[in-house]
Amino acid sequence: MHVSQTEDHDATRRDFIYYATAGAGVVTAGAAVWPLVNQMNPSADVEALSSIFVDVGGLEPGGQLTVNFLGKPVFIRRRTAEEIEDARSVDVSDLSIDRDSRNPNKPGTDASDVNRSLDDDGEWLVMIGVCTHLGCVPLGNGAGDFNAWFCPCHGSHYDTAGRIRRGPAPENMHIPVAAFVDDTTIQLG
Ligand code: FES
Repeated sequence: MHVSQTEDHDATRRDFIYYATAGAGVVTAGAAVWPLVNQMNPSADVEALSSIFVDVGGLEPGGQLTVNFLGKPVFIRRRTAEEIEDARSVDVSDLSIDRDSRNPNKPGTDASDVNRSLDDDGEWLVMIGVCTHLGCVPLGNGAGDFNAWFCPCHGSHYDTAGRIRRGPAPENMHIPVAAFVDDTTIQLG
């Protein structure tokens, strides 16, 4: 297994792990596209062909992986029951900044938690970990006013569904094309 851990900033970001090299391990890529994507900053048509498979079988509730996909961090979080309950208790009308799910897997839907999470039970949240204000990577693990993600650059607070709730960011964190292909494997792209 070739998995390298190149980012591990501090105690608040222990979950921040990039899998830079694909092999038979946690992250695998079709047709060796993955290393090329990272090294060559390919054109959009090459990016469109790319997909990776992430083994999430080792994640416990409350655990999170950050995978570098097409040059962006993707957060894959297995939410706790409390996080799910928090996210699902929010009425869409309470979302004063953005009410769009920002989910290409469910286009045109509102930002209720069922439209943001990957599975029906809401245990899995997969989203592009980029603040929609100016593109910083928010801090996770219960950060900010909504005990989820916080972007300290200019103070954007996201909830446990990755929805913007306070601060200058205009949109919920975007969700990538993603799906479970078996019980423990998520395909991105
Ligand atoms: S980039 Fe996140 S708040 Fe400005």
